[in-house]
Amino acid sequence: MIVDKVVLITGCGGGIGKSLTKAFYTYGFRVYASSRSLDSINDLKEIGINTLRMDVKDRLSIERAVNEVIEKEGKIDILINNAGVSSFNTWIDIPDEELEDVIQTNFLGAVRTTKEVAKHMIKERTGLIINIGSVAGFLPMPISGLYCASKASLHSFNDSLRVELSPFSIKVMLVMPGPIKTDIINKSLPNFKEILSNPESPYYPIHKELLDRPLTSIKNQVPVEGFTDSLMKSIFSSRIPNHFKYGPGSKFGLVFLSWLPTRLIDFIFSKKFGFSKLKSIIQKNGQNKKDN
Ligand SMILES: NC(=O)c1ccc[n+]([C@@H]2O[C@H](COP(=O)([O-])OP(=O)(O)OC[C@H]3O[C@@H](n4cnc5c(N)ncnc54)[C@H](OP(=O)(O)O)[C@@H]3O)[C@@H](O)[C@H]2O)c1
Repeated sequence: MIVDKVVLITGCGGGIGKSLTKAFYTYGFRVYASSRSLDSINDLKEIGINTLRMDVKDRLSIERAVNEVIEKEGKIDILINNAGVSSFNTWIDIPDEELEDVIQTNFLGAVRTTKEVAKHMIKERTGLIINIGSVAGFLPMPISGLYCASKASLHSFNDSLRVELSPFSIKVMLVMPGPIKTDIINKSLPNFKEILSNPESPYYPIHKELLDRPLTSIKNQVPVEGFTDSLMKSIFSSRIPNHFKYGPGSKFGLVFLSWLPTRLIDFIFSKKFGFSKLKSIIQKNGQNKKDN
């Protein structure tokens, strides 16, 4: 079956982007899979999918890629802002380059790509923009605060954009997955390990506990295929939902946690992540200093 709809997806080098690309292609859509490295999407090209180079941190690269699709197809019906990076670090230890990389990719990249594509959708008076947010966007957690902040910004962008584009019959959908089995966490672990293993870090006394936390997220990950099937069903439903949640904790556990009073949330996270242990260590050391 050929569907007369053109889909542009960012960050198709692996995980969710690659899985969604294959799903749309299987359903007969004309798919443009983009990545900052063409090598990572060569397998998609080999099965007949259109591939493009697009680095969402580079405005010119976005413009070029979108223009290429418009020149070939005359329109883009669906945009999926999927490109993203993860980040694990305590705020005060985050290098400046990482601050910029995460915000540029996860937030500004999606905003700039949307601006470029939406002007064509506005002319057509139709379109669907899907932003891949995260459960992290509604529940800020220690050691992934930067990632959470980038996704919370994306969520705010999504929900205000939805109203602004509704007069033009353009739908805007926010997808909030819980942990999905992809490489995203593994990619940021070496950096996290290097920074926390430095005895100069004030968090060094609990670095082993902190380094274990991303491994817990990895243990909870669910297969990407289930996520993709479920998302495709909701895109094809007669009423596309504004928000789509999927995966461990996304519908109840983390939502319930986010409703708790902040003092209780702080208590739970301090215990879970080891910050209450660090406080005891610091107090004990302070006591020792007084005794000496
Ligand atoms: N997996 C999860 O548990 C989970 C949960 C919630 C939300 N998400 C979100 O889902 C999206 C996809 O992540 P994933 O889990 O599938 O991880 P992934 O396999 O690492 O995919 C992320 C993709 O984004 C690409 N990317 C990074 N920076 C880019 C840039 N500047 N320009 C263009 N592409 C760029 C990566 O390219 P390279 O291969 O070149 O690095 C990669 O192909 C992300 O937005 C992520 O935040 C994931």
